[in-house]
Amino acid sequence: MNIKESIESIREKFRSDSDPFPVDEQSIESLRVKYLGRKGLISDLFSQIPKLSNEQKPLAGKLLNELKIEIGKLFESSKNESEIQYDVEDITLPGRSFPKGFKHPIQSTLDEIKSIFNNIGFSVAYGPEIDDDFHNFSALNFPQDHPARDMQDTFFTVDDLILRTHTSNVQVHLMENEEPPLRYIVPGRVYRNESISFKSYCLFHQVEGIFIDKNVSFSDLKGVLEFFVKRMFGSSTKMRFRPSFFPFTEPSAEVDIWNEKNKQWLEILGSGMVDPEVFNNVNIDPLIWKGFAFGMGVERICMLKYGIDDIRLLFQNDLRFLEQF
Ligand code: DAH
Repeated sequence: MNIKESIESIREKFRSDSDPFPVDEQSIESLRVKYLGRKGLISDLFSQIPKLSNEQKPLAGKLLNELKIEIGKLFESSKNESEIQYDVEDITLPGRSFPKGFKHPIQSTLDEIKSIFNNIGFSVAYGPEIDDDFHNFSALNFPQDHPARDMQDTFFTVDDLILRTHTSNVQVHLMENEEPPLRYIVPGRVYRNESISFKSYCLFHQVEGIFIDKNVSFSDLKGVLEFFVKRMFGSSTKMRFRPSFFPFTEPSAEVDIWNEKNKQWLEILGSGMVDPEVFNNVNIDPLIWKGFAFGMGVERICMLKYGIDDIRLLFQNDLRFLEQF
């Protein structure tokens, strides 16, 4: 038998030995040793090459090498295959988890406020964040020299436009654009040129409320706000209405809720009956229509609800903070 035939017969022998290809590691290993091992059949043939004639040597070396690579590859691919099978079939492997998004606490608070007022018939409206003096101040009965217009509170932009300092500007837009009765809440961002600290930020959120109809009284205002507070903070929450002043409401009241942890009253919103002067500014007849309005700070409510003690945390986008909600 010449060397070429010997190589071919080893190939044949391997074919029958490896069909079917063994599955357990030990049989795979003994098959590998039999052919590719240091004293295996292929090594054995390699050791015969020096005995060949000079013409035969190169071809024999080439064929033998090819066979060695061919068989080696089969062992490699059988290894990969068994790895993949293991991965697919092992149903006890723990699942892979994917990072998922979640709501910012301000958004959760806003959603909750909206849903409470939706339940009692308020629709949601939005208005401009950049507005003029009329909608943000004059129509709401702020005198020309009112301190809230001061450079220190208001951000001025170009062409006499300002960043709104409260969502009350949208009351004016709604009353200009729609015929009463009106029943809206207005969530949105507001801006104030204040120094930043644990309790104040240059940007925050408010929800404004406006209710206009023919027979609206202060007791309607109290009923609506009490409903809101009990839904938002729990039915046993202690609350009080405290007389106050706003240029656009008369009478006006602020609402405080009792904070058991700090043993103190905390203001959460301003409210009042729409001042007849405001109705006159938007051409609604104050002898026919009455209304109440309110405005609340969303950060304040969010901080109370979740026990957050620094407003800046709500704007820093630090995942270590946000992931807790
Ligand atoms: N706009 C007021 C503020 O930013 C809050 C407010 C008070 C809104 C009384 C109202 C209201 O609609 O009736 O402090």
